[in-house]
Amino acid sequence: MSQTKSGLIVPSKRSNIDSFIAMDIVSKAAKLTAAGEDVISLAVGQPCASAPKAALTAAANALKDGVISYTNAPGIDGLRQRIALHYRETYDVEVDPARIYVTTGSSAGFVLSFLSMFEAGARIAIPSPGYPAYRNIIKSLSMVPVEIETSHDSRWTLNAQLLEAAHKKNKIDGLLFANPNNPNGTMLQRDGFATLLHKAQELGIRFISDEIYHGLTYDFDAASALEYGDDVIVINSFSKYFCMTGWRIGWMIVPESLMRTIDKLQQNLFICAPQISQIAAAAAFEGKAEMELVHRGYKTNRKLLLQRLPKLGITNIQPIDGAFYAYGDISQLSDNSVDFASKILEHTKVAVTPGVDFDLSRGKSWMRFCFAANHQRLVEAFDRLDKWLGIEQN
Ligand SMILES: Cc1ncc(COP(=O)(O)O)c(C=O)c1O
Repeated sequence: MSQTKSGLIVPSKRSNIDSFIAMDIVSKAAKLTAAGEDVISLAVGQPCASAPKAALTAAANALKDGVISYTNAPGIDGLRQRIALHYRETYDVEVDPARIYVTTGSSAGFVLSFLSMFEAGARIAIPSPGYPAYRNIIKSLSMVPVEIETSHDSRWTLNAQLLEAAHKKNKIDGLLFANPNNPNGTMLQRDGFATLLHKAQELGIRFISDEIYHGLTYDFDAASALEYGDDVIVINSFSKYFCMTGWRIGWMIVPESLMRTIDKLQQNLFICAPQISQIAAAAAFEGKAEMELVHRGYKTNRKLLLQRLPKLGITNIQPIDGAFYAYGDISQLSDNSVDFASKILEHTKVAVTPGVDFDLSRGKSWMRFCFAANHQRLVEAFDRLDKWLGIEQN
């Protein structure tokens, strides 16, 4: 048989995005674990706890039937109605279930919102430090991420002034904002959040609110963008509060003006979210008491990190108002967080994430520690780090 031409299959320019370094570290950690090493991972933002028991039971019952099928594109009615009830219970907001779309994690919600609202070349603001996939999804869809640096002066969160200043320099079309934020857990309080949202709308910037860490806050609650009107997109997920990362299930709430567009995009891009995960997710809400215990565990872990990171020489920890991350300054220990994370993994078998994932310009001096781990394992991780750095334990 004659050979066809080779060298035709090459990556597109728009797929030329950065890797998600946390995931690269996970691969290294998995190799070490496979080789018999006792690795403690504080690298990936995922709870070590199980999904709610009710979710597991619902999924197990569904599996007994054997037929796991497509659902309609927006998702099963029972789940959409349960999510609507969640908005009434949690935020005192009425949401028509018809506006709720069940997605393959919040990750699919980002793709759907960008494609539904923006043209190629649109400029979408995101905070820096921020969740790296935002930048990479925006780029891969031929749009332009506009990273707005936060700092000590803005208490490490985006605000209305920073958004306005960036917009004045060069027009912005959309804003994707997580509150609490990843990698630092830092939040705007209710007033600041409302001011940011109103400023965005005044400037004609479409607001996408990533509410994935709602329910996981420590000193004050998070406001939903839906409390201030319907002309926003809200994205959320079962991954974090409900400990369901691997189920790949989330949701988005869109204004009526976007419903048919999201329908068509979901039908064609994803068909629907996995049915088994939708069934489990509808039952997950019954497990809120269980999840509150997990949340309480994070509070204890947070206290531990706030005590032990400074002893290691990791300082300037950005305010951990929510989520389950500590983002600290490592410049007393190293000037290169990527090398330092590799050394930590090599010498202590503790996996952590270098800041360059979250902040391209300043991330070499920062490191993220996820504290959604089992408490004893977290203590063990810090004992290993103390020992390696020669810190006396007391
Ligand atoms: C801020 C933020 N948004 C979205 C996601 C993606 O979550 P998922 O696709 O599992 O819902 C993450 C994951 O870490 C995150 O930190």
